[in-house]
This record gives sequence, C-alpha cells and structure tokens, in this order.
Amino acid sequence: MRTIDELSQELGGLAGRTVLVRSDLNVPLDGSTITDDGRVRASVPTITHLAEAGARVVVCAHLGRPKGAPEAKYSLAPVARRLGELVGEGTSVTFVEETVGARAAAAVAALADGDVLVLENLRFNPGETAKTDEERADFAHALADLADAFVSDGFGVVHRAQASVYDVARLLPHAAGELVRSEVEVMRRLREDPQRPYAVILGGAKVSDKLGVIESLITVADRVLVGGGMVFTFLKAQGHEVGTSLLEEDQVDTVRGYLETAAERGVEIVLPTDIVVADSFSADAAHEVVAADAIPADRMGLDIGPESEEVFARALADARTIFWNGPMGAFEMAPYASGTRAVARCLVERTRDGAMTVVGGGDSAAAVREFGHADDDFGHISTGGGASLEYLEGKELPGLQVLEERA
Ligand code: 3PG
Repeated sequence: MRTIDELSQELGGLAGRTVLVRSDLNVPLDGSTITDDGRVRASVPTITHLAEAGARVVVCAHLGRPKGAPEAKYSLAPVARRLGELVGEGTSVTFVEETVGARAAAAVAALADGDVLVLENLRFNPGETAKTDEERADFAHALADLADAFVSDGFGVVHRAQASVYDVARLLPHAAGELVRSEVEVMRRLREDPQRPYAVILGGAKVSDKLGVIESLITVADRVLVGGGMVFTFLKAQGHEVGTSLLEEDQVDTVRGYLETAAERGVEIVLPTDIVVADSFSADAAHEVVAADAIPADRMGLDIGPESEEVFARALADARTIFWNGPMGAFEMAPYASGTRAVARCLVERTRDGAMTVVGGGDSAAAVREFGHADDDFGHISTGGGASLEYLEGKELPGLQVLEERA
C-alpha cells in the first residue's frame, strides 16, 4: 500500500492535482443532527494533509443504505457541514448535491488548490453497490474522471467491493490514507502478534452476524467474553432456558461446536452468571436480576447483571490485549446500560495499566463516547465494524487488496 507521500512523489507533487478521497462518513443521524461524529473526525487528518499539500480534494462517501436513488434523509449535506467545522477556517469545504454529472464536474472544476469538495451520497447511484464489475464500471469511470489520483481512507468500507472502494483504485494512481494505514496496523497486530493474555469481548444482537469471527477468534484469543443479545444462544447451547430473550435457535448447534472447540484448545469462554431481565423490550418495563441459568419463561434478558460485570472485570484483569466489539445489552435504554458501561470502564482502566485496548464497531464506539469517555482513553477506537471483524477473521478485504495493485 502506497502512502500519500509516496503517491505525491510519483505524481511530482500534489499541488494543483485533483485527488478523490473515499472516506467513511457513515454516521448516525437524528434528523439532520449527527449523534456521533467519530467517523467524520477520523477522516479529517487525511483530508487536511492533502489540502495542505495543495491538492484539490474531492471527498466521496456513503450514508446509510439508500437503494441506488436519491433520498433526502440520506443526504451527506449535514456531514459536509460538520466536516467544514472540523477542518477549520483556513480550508474551504463545499458540498455538491450530485455525485457524478455536470454539476459535480463543475464544482470540481471550480476548486482552487487546497479546497475541499464533498460529493453527495455515492449510494444514490446504483453503480456504486452493484454486484458485478461490469455493472459498476460506468460509475467507477465517472468517479475516476473527476480526479488525477485516488486516496482510500474509508477503513469502515474496505470489506466492500464497491465502485468507490475497489474499482476506482484500479483506474487511478492511488494511496492508502492515514486512517486506513493506522487501522490496518492495529488490526494486523491483533491478528498476528497480540501480546498475551489476549481477551476478546463480543456482544451485539446476533450471533449469526459474527460466526466467522467467533470461529477464528476461538483459535487466536486466550479468553472470549460474550454478552449482548448473542449470549442467549450461548446459554441455550449450554442447556439453559432463556425465556423470551433473543435466541437464534438455528445457531445453537454451531455455538455448541464453538464451546467444544474452545474447550479442546484451552480457550476460556466467559459467559455472564446473572442477567437483567424485563417483561418487555422497553425502558419502563418491570425488570430484575436473575441467575443466568434461571431466566423465567416470560422474561427477556436485556443486559448482563452486576455479578457478571465483576466476573468480566476479573477475566480482563491480567489481559495485555483486549478487543471489544458489540454492546453487552440494550444500552440505549438506561436500565440496561450498566453492563456496557462497566466493560467500557474496565477497558479505560486496563488502558491506563498499559494494556492494548481496541474498541471496534459503530455501536461500541458510539456507546463509549455517549458514556463520556474520550477517544484517547482507549488504545484505539476503530471506525470499522464489519471491516474490522472481517479483517480479524482473516478474510481478504477487496478494498485493501486492490491497494496492493498498481493502477
Ligand atoms: C459501516 O457502517 O460499517 C460502514 O460504513 C459500511 O456500511 P455498510 O455496512 O452499509 O456497507
């Protein structure tokens, strides 16, 4: 993967060059208010670096999952505004309500050296996410025609073989941006060279979303702690009843297999010993703490319990490397936030003790910020959810693999 400086050398400098940057600006929005701007902030260093080198910077990104046509609620306009605030007054950041086409081309042509232009949501165009190379080709060419070079900086999308991530890199001289480089370096250390003991904490709703990574992590980690909605499939696999909790019945045998593999390999699987249960999925529902092996038939588990918080803290106490993906419960509702809050606190303490801690995934990253933690309370907060999991799983990620090739 070439660096921006290497690309600059190859082009004889970036001043006056138009550089297309793929960022991941897929942030949670409440109306037009960004509720967690972590991905926008993480995109700033590369954009600023290019602007300061005199490039005309064209930023492209997606927001949400529109179906190949414009939808006002998925416009990147509020995100472009936030980017403008973050890069500071010295740099002009404008937005064009089109991705490719006459208006976009005119906006690019109007850029002066050091200016930044944000294009409208890539996914308003069917060619961005189309399945075959042929179907994506026209859109990829239209994007490439806007620029002299390409910088891939959206780590959160490098697992997607999409026009702006993959195909464009085959058409233009390219480099990996600073975010992609730093994320890959952290993930590489986790995958190839973690200091031990290495503990992984997995949460989130569905075990079926994380099968590949669980399978791979139980061969690499020393300890795997499980919480969140997915834990009920684990408890069921151990023979416990889980009431009305989220359960993936069709995954129970698979999970039982994971428990057996872990036992054979001496990998400790740490499950909660108590659970906060409620009579419905609501912040106002009556709730109580019960033993994990005694969930009443008419109750659903919505968080790990206080005893489990201590069990998890003990399991992390001597870890030198900790990777965390996925909340421990329905943390967006106050009565079920304690487990996620406790894990976040524990990671902050372990970071202070010198352990390498990595928070991966949109939900866990948003949670730690919502709890008031600063980014540097942790070793690294990844901007990639799916991308970091697929990397750790050992998969080839198309958006990284293409950066090893020459355009
Ligand atoms: C993410 O939110 O993980 C990335 O932005 C990728 O989004 P996607 O899952 O819609 O491709």
